[in-house]
Amino acid sequence: MCGIVGYTGKSQAAPILLDGLSKLEYRGYDSAGMAVFDGKKLRSEKTPGRLNALVEMTHDGELLPGTLGIGHTRWATHGKATKENAHPHFNAAGTVAVVHNGIIENYLSIRQRLEKKGYAFKSETDTETIAAMLDYYYEKDPIEAIIKVLHRVTGSYALGIIFTDHPGVLYAARKDSPLIVGKGRDGNYIASDVPAVLKYTRDVYYIRNEEIAKITGDEISFYNIDADPVTEELHTIEWDVNAADKGGYEFYMMKEMSEQPKVLRDTCDPRIKNGTIVFDELVKDEKIIKKASKLHIVACGSAYHAGISGKYVIEGMAGIPVEVELASEFRYRNPVYIPDEIVIAVSQSGETADTLAAIKEAKANGVPVWAIVNATGSSMTREADRTIYTYAGPEISVATTKAYSAQIAVFYMLAMMFAKTRGRLAPEREEEYIEDLKRLPEQVEFLLGNKERVQKFANRYIAAHDVYYIGRGIDYGIALEASLKLKEISYVHAEAYAAGELKHGTISLIEKNTLVTAIATQEELYDKTISNIVEVKSRGAFVMAVTNVGHSDIEENADFVIYIPSTNKYFANSLAIIPLQLFAYYVSAGRGYDVDHPRNLAKSVTVE
Ligand code: F6R
Repeated sequence: MCGIVGYTGKSQAAPILLDGLSKLEYRGYDSAGMAVFDGKKLRSEKTPGRLNALVEMTHDGELLPGTLGIGHTRWATHGKATKENAHPHFNAAGTVAVVHNGIIENYLSIRQRLEKKGYAFKSETDTETIAAMLDYYYEKDPIEAIIKVLHRVTGSYALGIIFTDHPGVLYAARKDSPLIVGKGRDGNYIASDVPAVLKYTRDVYYIRNEEIAKITGDEISFYNIDADPVTEELHTIEWDVNAADKGGYEFYMMKEMSEQPKVLRDTCDPRIKNGTIVFDELVKDEKIIKKASKLHIVACGSAYHAGISGKYVIEGMAGIPVEVELASEFRYRNPVYIPDEIVIAVSQSGETADTLAAIKEAKANGVPVWAIVNATGSSMTREADRTIYTYAGPEISVATTKAYSAQIAVFYMLAMMFAKTRGRLAPEREEEYIEDLKRLPEQVEFLLGNKERVQKFANRYIAAHDVYYIGRGIDYGIALEASLKLKEISYVHAEAYAAGELKHGTISLIEKNTLVTAIATQEELYDKTISNIVEVKSRGAFVMAVTNVGHSDIEENADFVIYIPSTNKYFANSLAIIPLQLFAYYVSAGRGYDVDHPRNLAKSVTVE
């Protein structure tokens, strides 16, 4: 979704804004713009399309001189991706400039009221209403005007604001949309995400909900919505600057898939202590863990798929009932909670609007909430009672791969922890699982090492129209994720079915050469899945199968087989997904698409 960058300090702002915005391109956008103030004149440029166009029209920023500026990449919500709708937006006098991420839900009624007072609007956006409101409420004190606006808007926002009456001062505010403040040497920054400022500083503040920041070149102060000064903690970002770079790969997605062995090590190793799983972040929840009657996993997209796999693993190992639900459904459904239930939210970004709302809904009902999150300091880490970090590092490609892998690994470890607490994990079993967990990184490495074979196969299917993914049990969870990967980056229609379900309707779509990908890693379900393969084969399907090493008999029915190294039935997900991620990648790259920036998609979905 939209990206915001702001700077105030000693350097020229425009090149910093352009550089920062380029680091936020991964979020998805369809227009870009910036405004820079040199103490006398506020200059602005905006354009639909890619950031490069803004770079060219401003001569790398040279045409917008000044040391205070705000920049924006917009993912269209209210109004098309046009120059008029691109940010920044201004008041009529051009003395207030605003960039915004989020949605102001009551903007229409506010706009109508302002129109009655003589305000005119140039764009269709909700953001221009904020610029007009700031104009209306501004007397002499920007903080006072901002607070009056924040009291009157509903919805979500991250805002970067310039008042020309206050040269050198950058204002920022947020609610339910991400925004950080970077503390640098030659100036200070705001940004939607850390990669935008990482080149200049590792010291960041996370602005809280309904908090306002006043930023000059050498001072940063925070205020709550009652205008009281508040103190924020300075955090140091530990990532390597290169973590947010392509590192020689053509696309971030390939780099991130290749990082999966490291991500698994980073996520699991710190939690394996003396041959058992220990979550330091959950030590205070010992009683809750022992009493838990049900786990309710809420998430969106791939994180939801990780939850589905988590359900099979936790129910299988620990015997606790698990419900998995799309956060967008959960939040409006008035869920019926049972005593001693735990809600577990899963999210890479920690900012997904629906998942965040689901956390708030559960908390409002007194239910303990854990969040499995990748992005340090994100909104969910502040809303949930406990945060379980996945240590995947920054994920830039819109299609998640390494964060998903880290999420399922966390579910394996949670399952082991619950199973042990409930006396359902025999010591020899625990030892076996820990050994399997430790072996996963090298097994993933092995599968990544065979990527050329997957690439060759993908090249044959570049022109595919429809692909079906089938599997049973955990393999169904993998099928869901594999089909999402393919459709989101290659625009090939793909559907996942529980293998036994196909014949209840969808099998009528199978015709000669339709590609069906069958996942068969669960030994007790293997024969059943083979029967389903035979069913589609006899209707002309071309079958790609992913199964455990040793099952060469599958070649009697499948046309192309990928064998995964042996592990226990619960952890097979981590291995089977690898060739299927690679397949999606190669179909997309082979079709010549921008793999990292699929059309219509945003990395961090901060609106409903
Ligand atoms: C798909 C993908 C999305 C996200 C979903 C939730 O590749 O990345 O489906 O999984 O938008 O995002 P997070 O995990 O940030 O809450």
